Amino acid sequence: MAKAAIMGYGTVGSGVYEIIKNNAEKLKKNANGEPIETKYILDIRDFPDHKEKHLFTKDFNDILNDSEVSVVAEVMGGLHPAYEFTKSLLESGKSVVTSNKELVATYGTELLALAREKNVNYFFEASVGGGIPIIRPMHQCLTANNIIRIAGILNGTTNYILNQMIKSGQTFDAALKDAQAKGFAERNPAADIEGHDACRKIAILTSLASGLTVDYNDIETKGITDITLDDVNYAAQMDAVIKLIGFAEFQEDGKIYSIVSPMVVKNDSPLSGVDGVMNAIMVTGDCVGNVMFYGAGAGKLPTASAVVADVVDAVKHIERSKKIMWVEPKENIMANSDSKKFAYFIRTTDNAENIRGIFGKCEFVDNIVSGESAFVTEPMSQSDAEEKSGKLKDVVSMIKVLD
Ligand code: HSE
Repeated sequence: MAKAAIMGYGTVGSGVYEIIKNNAEKLKKNANGEPIETKYILDIRDFPDHKEKHLFTKDFNDILNDSEVSVVAEVMGGLHPAYEFTKSLLESGKSVVTSNKELVATYGTELLALAREKNVNYFFEASVGGGIPIIRPMHQCLTANNIIRIAGILNGTTNYILNQMIKSGQTFDAALKDAQAKGFAERNPAADIEGHDACRKIAILTSLASGLTVDYNDIETKGITDITLDDVNYAAQMDAVIKLIGFAEFQEDGKIYSIVSPMVVKNDSPLSGVDGVMNAIMVTGDCVGNVMFYGAGAGKLPTASAVVADVVDAVKHIERSKKIMWVEPKENIMANSDSKKFAYFIRTTDNAENIRGIFGKCEFVDNIVSGESAFVTEPMSQSDAEEKSGKLKDVVSMIKVLD
């Protein structure tokens, strides 16, 4: 019998508890016949009406000092005390599985190395893409490839908001409230709408793909707070949608270009039809070409599904580290922001003649706001686009176009 503990009984933690209980037979079969049972649930809150209230503890040491507990699901979120708890658990020889992208993106290098040293596992399938299998496929199934590019919709909350604006004409604030009520949003939804959550996820994927630590602070990040219904309607006019994209390109000189930004996504891209809370990650490998991973990017049971899969894998690999890791690079691996060219969708109050004079060749979009011109530039570097748009009378919006 494998004894597990759950740290954090929020949306995901309660889902982990339910799956371990309700799918016990299935989990046992998949864990080579080893039954898995929850022995503790750590939470600072009281749950007096819970059917198994005896499982709850407020004392982390109950879990740490119980030699019967071999695997712990850290689904409490945040950096502290999740970092200290995870470190102590790995040091004491327990495997830890997590949905905590902030922790993996910040301390992943150290925690993965510690797990390796202690011959246990630190798994984080649920940290990117909720229920979508993406970490194991990248680590195992795509291991023969040099990864060339990753472009993904990595945040369910912002995708839900943008989708509600497009499909129902709902305002930004109303759509955000909906996403919070459905349990998709972070405790502080600024992490979603300002792009930080997607940034941590693309940092994890680029670290995994390159084997080198990508510091999320080095990734230029812009959220969706400036996107208006007019932008969304212009995109529709261009047979496109606006999505928050986590993007990374692995360049031939070994550098990595990475950005999180709203982008105009043409309707012929498979990413354009990814609606609501769904996430999708398009990975391009030098052998496999494009592969796309699609599914529920947030929510109780989808995320818990990935956490519990990690619990099962940890039980199957007791005292056998799977050695997933990345290491600190010896030199700067981040590419200059001008090394990747994008076309830009620009709205301005300036006239067509001036626009052509500044940008040369560009494609005009029928305008839907009077007094405005809207157009798409040729692909150009970011500083070129900024310098040229600085010469326009007034820029209403400027959004990268995903190629
Ligand atoms: N707030 C996150 C999202 C939860 O909306 O995608 C899943 O990581």
